[in-house]
Amino acid sequence: MDTKSLDLFSQEFHQNPYDYYNKIRPHQPFAKVKMFNEGHHYSWMAFTYEAAVAVLKDPRFIKDMRTVFPDEVTDENLPPITQSMLFVDPPDHRRLRSLVQSGFTPKRIEMLRGRIEDIAREQAWLMRNKETVDFIEEYAFPIPIRVICELLGIPSEDRLDFQRWSNVIVEISDSPRYDEAMVEFMAYLEKMIEKKRESPKEDLLSDLIQAEEGGDRLTVSELYGVVMLLIVAGHETTVNLIANGLLALLTHQDQLAMLKEDHSLVAQAIEELLRFNGPVEFSTDRWAKESFTFMGQQVEKGDHVIVSLASADHDPATFSDPSTLDITREKSPHLAFGKGIHYCLGAPLARLEGEIALRVLLEEYPNLSLAAELNELEWRQSLVIRGLKQLPIKLL
Ligand code: HEM
Repeated sequence: MDTKSLDLFSQEFHQNPYDYYNKIRPHQPFAKVKMFNEGHHYSWMAFTYEAAVAVLKDPRFIKDMRTVFPDEVTDENLPPITQSMLFVDPPDHRRLRSLVQSGFTPKRIEMLRGRIEDIAREQAWLMRNKETVDFIEEYAFPIPIRVICELLGIPSEDRLDFQRWSNVIVEISDSPRYDEAMVEFMAYLEKMIEKKRESPKEDLLSDLIQAEEGGDRLTVSELYGVVMLLIVAGHETTVNLIANGLLALLTHQDQLAMLKEDHSLVAQAIEELLRFNGPVEFSTDRWAKESFTFMGQQVEKGDHVIVSLASADHDPATFSDPSTLDITREKSPHLAFGKGIHYCLGAPLARLEGEIALRVLLEEYPNLSLAAELNELEWRQSLVIRGLKQLPIKLL
């Protein structure tokens, strides 16, 4: 298959990207794809597991646009989210990540178990009188956003606004709605940060403000950047882990039955659901710092590179029988959380939220079923997130 004719923006591709990947991967581990609907911009994409890991670990593929395009990109014209750890390289990366890392260790996250369980039960309870719901709106979305808001210490009542802003931010970034959403999101954060400056509390946002006030550890735009990153990365992804995960189980009734029978399989099931139909289809952007030969291809300085994590996680060279959902699969080295220095900071939190959300759901609504035909489900057009627009579910 010619990768240059692959239309990453079509519903047909999003309905079943794995079929496309299975055709491309054996012949083209690392190849050029068309990136924008109109215009003629091409990027490199890694399709095999080997190429994906090689890109993610290679320091010649860098993230900071200010280094790659010093004449065009400066601090002033970069949106704040791109001044966060995910969009910079060492040594800035290390400094920015270390400021929040201690809040996300598996031990610290485990302390949130009880609170996450309460939130999941409450969201399940709120659906009790409904026969059919949009599962994303009523359950998968509110849980992670409520958790990340509590961690940061911001009111989760504003979550519908976050949903609107961050939906736009992770979708195609050259839409006019993007600038509008950014401006509104920034204005909101500005108000919130001022409030916390006046009366700091015991929360992550107050700690970050303190680091900024300390002077040398965090600039004001980096403070906005990290808060935005945590809000966007902290819910867009986990929402779709829960929703894509449920969809995969509902379309594989044998696996669902096994899980219903034995809830202790849920943590292992989450690992397989991350691999099988994970919420982050592509890595974020990287650029070649210099010209060099990579996986037999000539990469030029400034070339744009992304990794199809979804394709890598279905590579038969690494996973036996990758198209089969097997919730008892052992030791899966999946790339759903990435690899290398930008490995997902929130992985312990995402795993815990996914595990609790799924278990509570099966306890409260053991007879739930899909309330739409598979081909009626519409996938979002995002170049990062793999997620449905809606997931209609019959609860009883
Ligand atoms: C199932 C849910 C999640 C998935 C699949 C996921 C996936 C990823 C991936 C693939 C990356 C690396 C991207 C790249 O290298 O281009 C990443 C980075 C990151 N994620 Fe997650 N994520 C999830 C949940 C979360 C949560 C809940 C948080 C925080 C509350 C979070 C915070 C971050 C941060 C801060 C980074 C940047 C790390 C760095 O640059 O050092 N993520 N995530």
